[in-house]
Amino acid sequence: MNQPSCSRRTFLLGTATTFAGAFLAACGEAPSAEVAATQVPVGSAVIVDKIIIAQPTEGQFVAYSTTCPHQGSPITQVDGSTVKCPSHGSVFDIATGAPVSGPATTGMTTVPVSENSGTVVAGEQ
Ligand code: FES
Repeated sequence: MNQPSCSRRTFLLGTATTFAGAFLAACGEAPSAEVAATQVPVGSAVIVDKIIIAQPTEGQFVAYSTTCPHQGSPITQVDGSTVKCPSHGSVFDIATGAPVSGPATTGMTTVPVSENSGTVVAGEQ
């Protein structure tokens, strides 16, 4: 009689690996961005690789996802100390991420950010 070629342990390991791969594929890679600190205007922001990197005051950096908290459209416009989602017009404060006007009632999602030797890195690292 032939023995099964797949032990219970091998089967479970293969199943776990498949689920982990499917999970990673579904989640995708978390966005991250890197920019020279000098490229981020004081009192304003830049949008790099789906991340809003702002410098509300000199040397203080904050970052947010460009995914609008209203209905998920990308926030694409920077206007001084605010950013705007063109889909329905929500405007957000770059210093706090809070909504200033428009239909959004919650603030932008913050993203980890750090500055080292003149380079600002935002996103999961
Ligand atoms: S999705 Fe951004 S304002 Fe509606």
